[in-house]
Amino acid sequence: MVTGLFNKKSVDSLIQEASVDSDEGLARSLSLANLLALGIGGIIGAGIFVLTGQAAANFAGPAIALSFILAAISCAMSGLCYAEFASMIPIAGSAYTYAYATLGELIAWIIGWDLILEYIFCGATVAVGWSGYFVSLCKDLGIIIPPELANPPLNLPAMFILALMTALQVVGLRQSTAVNNFIVLVKTAVILIFVFAGIAYINQQNWLPFIPENTGEFGSFGWSGVWRGAGVVFFTYIGFDAVSCAAQEARNPQRDMPIAILGSLLIATVLYIAVALVLTGIVPYQQLNVPDPIAVGVNAVGEGLRWLKPIVKIGAIAGMSSVIVVFLLGQSRVFYAMANDGLLPPQFAAIHPKFRTPHIAIIVSGIVAMLLAGLLPIGLLGELVSIGTLLAFLIVCIAVPILRRSRPDLPRPFRTPLVPLVPILGALISALQMLSLPRDTWLRLILWLAVGLLIYFTYGRKHSKLLQK
Ligand code: ALA
Repeated sequence: MVTGLFNKKSVDSLIQEASVDSDEGLARSLSLANLLALGIGGIIGAGIFVLTGQAAANFAGPAIALSFILAAISCAMSGLCYAEFASMIPIAGSAYTYAYATLGELIAWIIGWDLILEYIFCGATVAVGWSGYFVSLCKDLGIIIPPELANPPLNLPAMFILALMTALQVVGLRQSTAVNNFIVLVKTAVILIFVFAGIAYINQQNWLPFIPENTGEFGSFGWSGVWRGAGVVFFTYIGFDAVSCAAQEARNPQRDMPIAILGSLLIATVLYIAVALVLTGIVPYQQLNVPDPIAVGVNAVGEGLRWLKPIVKIGAIAGMSSVIVVFLLGQSRVFYAMANDGLLPPQFAAIHPKFRTPHIAIIVSGIVAMLLAGLLPIGLLGELVSIGTLLAFLIVCIAVPILRRSRPDLPRPFRTPLVPLVPILGALISALQMLSLPRDTWLRLILWLAVGLLIYFTYGRKHSKLLQK
């Protein structure tokens, strides 16, 4: 008999768990500034340095700036829902934990398993992007890395950066956040330098027409191109939700979680729009279909901005490193939460006595990401990241009105506005974006979830602490 699949964890017990700050568990050490930096660290990375140009050249033209606004609005709907949960149930596990409290164990498992696609696969995707920029910077310095060592099935630079960031994570949250804070300053400065230095070189003719005429094919310029562009640049915003994984380590999660989740999203949106406008202003968008559009943009202007090229590359490399830190952090905390509930082996919840980090969960996440990054091409990894993330957003949006109905009495330090309109719109947009992804990506998602279900029915269900109660 398949009973108990939809058993829910009580929110009261989750809130109780969240309030325990023992000497053996995760430490509540993160300030608001740390959390904001985690958000920005996770959001700004491969996407803005790689995808912006291709999306402008192929789909939206200068109106890629509008695509960024559209994608930000859709992320904000999910962000508001994450903010409500993360302030109400501030423990590790993010969407997995919220689903456990509202939709039951099976859906929670599915989301926990699905989050691997977001966090580990995204870490791997960004590591592959990092490798591309790293190889290019080395070349500028006269060091040639042979292509067979930096492409699938052997991408050594990608594996190296993942190993380095995994080691950093194990050593401590304080060290990881210190490195992240520094990197966030560097990459934000690089983006601001690009924007302010670039303004002087904008040729307004490049913005005309701002929305190039549709070519007759859906998604190829015109308004449908703006929509398609929004789907592509969605990737650039992924990461704000990873902040919620650190809820159990926040000093004042009730106040700080919503500010960090929504604040980092807002800061990234402003920076992205500025980059999009300057980039398409300094160089005709048709020339941007390249893997390093910002570097190409500053080069195309002529002598005036060429000094910026190495700085942009350093910004990109730094930026992607912090995305890897934040995503490995997110994944290890999801594993930790799942193991605490008995759905994964207890080793995943083990906390290192000295470093106070879930070291085994971190090392496993890092090794899996290294294997993926070493073996697989970036396109395949990236598509799985998008579909996995959208599924998590969908579930979190659905969960908000459910919990509002079943437990209207719970204290909600942050309330998503206009419920159920905002969560329903958030869920609908996520579903629409999922539907626009290729059939192969869907098949891979289904296969991935099937493997997950096999593990759940052979291990998780038998060891579930909730079922044993
Ligand atoms: N938003 C992250 C990036 O663009 C995943 O690298």
